Amino acid sequence: MTIAHAHPNIALVKYWGKQEKAGNLPATPNLSITLAGLTTVTQVEDGTTDHFVLNGETSQDPKLQGWLNTLRDTFDVPPLHIDTGNDFPTSAGLASSASGFAALITAINAHCELGLNQEMCSDWARKGSASAARSILGGFVALVPPQWQAVRLASQEQWPLEVVVAVTSNEAKSVSSGEGMERSRLTSPYYKAWLRDAATDFAAGSQAINDKDFQGLAAVAELNCLKMHSLMLTSQPTLSYWTPASVACMDRVRALREEGEDVFFTVDAGPQIKAVCLPGSADTVAAALAETPGVIDIIRSPLGHGARVVT
Ligand code: DP6
Repeated sequence: MTIAHAHPNIALVKYWGKQEKAGNLPATPNLSITLAGLTTVTQVEDGTTDHFVLNGETSQDPKLQGWLNTLRDTFDVPPLHIDTGNDFPTSAGLASSASGFAALITAINAHCELGLNQEMCSDWARKGSASAARSILGGFVALVPPQWQAVRLASQEQWPLEVVVAVTSNEAKSVSSGEGMERSRLTSPYYKAWLRDAATDFAAGSQAINDKDFQGLAAVAELNCLKMHSLMLTSQPTLSYWTPASVACMDRVRALREEGEDVFFTVDAGPQIKAVCLPGSADTVAAALAETPGVIDIIRSPLGHGARVVT
């Protein structure tokens, strides 16, 4: 039996749209931070047939089964009993598929002695869910062509930012990221502009991380996030992942910044707001978001490590 841990990551320059070829390749370079405060624990052991348990309940997951079958085209992997649990809401815009596939390939690699190095683990994680490629590493992580395997831009020790997550709903989303981004690619009139701006946003985000320029990172990350949500809103049928409380939290973050706090927001395909802060502002930001109407929980997180085997 092998147990691996992995953390979700949140993108500061987003991936929303795939290339039209095999391998689950993003259309644009993207970068993220890995969150230590949320954890997926995945246990793998030999079974008689494949059996998946998610958060204590047997689950049928065609995406996971398809990925496992593809892995078996290359490696000798026996039937597996896979038991995975998240200490945070699943499929609700908190990147549970990212930490899920990162923990899973890490556990299978060790359990079945596949001999994959970190780059290859990232490659296999990406085939399951592209954002999962980034959760193989900790700190600040980029996913860029031509390999599309995660590369580290900086460690969590080099720039110890903090994240305050304002949870506004615990419900699983009705349209998955994969389905949503395909809808945007095919129908949003802004998709071409998204592709056009991607390299510039990625370069600006990487430079800000390299320079530890918080205001610079705030500017590019907030605008990039809102560009992605503009794609979602202008898809047909429209995609709207926000609750009224999500909008209230974004307004609150902007107001806190006006008051001098070092904070910016980002939002993924879900209603939760992630407020990224310099450590000196995290307490004030957490208190302010906690009292914003509609916020049901606050999760605080430092940046953390990549996926790893624990037993
Ligand atoms: C909004 O990685 O979940 O979180 O590759 O289809 O599994 P698939 O999509 P996924 O999409 C992540 C979308 C995002 C932005 C990001 O993490 O870059």
